[in-house]
Amino acid sequence: MQEPKTQVPREKWTDRVNLTALLTRILLGLLLTGAVLLGIHFLFPPRAEEGRTVIVSQGGTVSPAAAAMARQTAPRAEGTLLLVNWENPVPFDRPEGLVTQAEIFGDEVVLVNGEGSVNREAGEAAKRMFLAARAEGIGRYKISSAYRSIAYQEKLWQARRRQDPCYGDDPYTNPVKAMPGCMSEHTTGLALDILSENHETANDAYGETPEGRWLAENAHRYGFILRYPEGKEHITGVIYEPWHYRYVGVEAATEIWERGICLEEYLGA
Ligand code: DAL
Ligand code: ZN
Repeated sequence: MQEPKTQVPREKWTDRVNLTALLTRILLGLLLTGAVLLGIHFLFPPRAEEGRTVIVSQGGTVSPAAAAMARQTAPRAEGTLLLVNWENPVPFDRPEGLVTQAEIFGDEVVLVNGEGSVNREAGEAAKRMFLAARAEGIGRYKISSAYRSIAYQEKLWQARRRQDPCYGDDPYTNPVKAMPGCMSEHTTGLALDILSENHETANDAYGETPEGRWLAENAHRYGFILRYPEGKEHITGVIYEPWHYRYVGVEAATEIWERGICLEEYLGA
């Protein structure tokens, strides 16, 4: 007897059963994989190396989203002890209290850019420091850089990244000389790059000149620290910079100098 037309032939029915079983298995497989991945994520959450929240640069710059996120978690400005580094972007572009260098300094120091700005308290302390050095027969210092805007710093950073696309990717292993736009403490107006008429190049050798040595031995008396010391590169993410001095006030500078530590260590950061 002929089977009714509406009835599914036996092979086709078997095929459908097999297909349904296969799809069910695929679906279950996917669900299981998702559950396992979710479990791994919660059991072993991704964490930044050594607890550091390094801002990852994208396409040669720090992504605006990453910078904005870091800003939200950045500590509030803490006056002369404000910490600016790879984890703590500068929380402003132009701080209060800036004055032109020409307004502060006289002939005791050479200015590369007299119209460039500096924090008034830091500038006045630096002036006392330069006068003391002159009185001890030290050659004239030359301020090559003080306050820098975020945009200007970003240009310096971009120039480095053009030369080396990996520049700054792993600063605690390969420390940098130029920070990204929003991470330079030059933007606080509290940092000065101090070279001399006798040695105008920002390199290690400056630290061995009479002017470089005098600063290393005496700057703390005027409230300045050598911000990026030799041997602390794994903490600062910046190379040894014997020309970069940061104003933190006499008390902090003296303790930092006496203990041979860097600002991150002093602040327990
Ligand atoms: N040279 C220092 C690290 C700066 O770029 O701020
Ligand atoms: Zn500097």
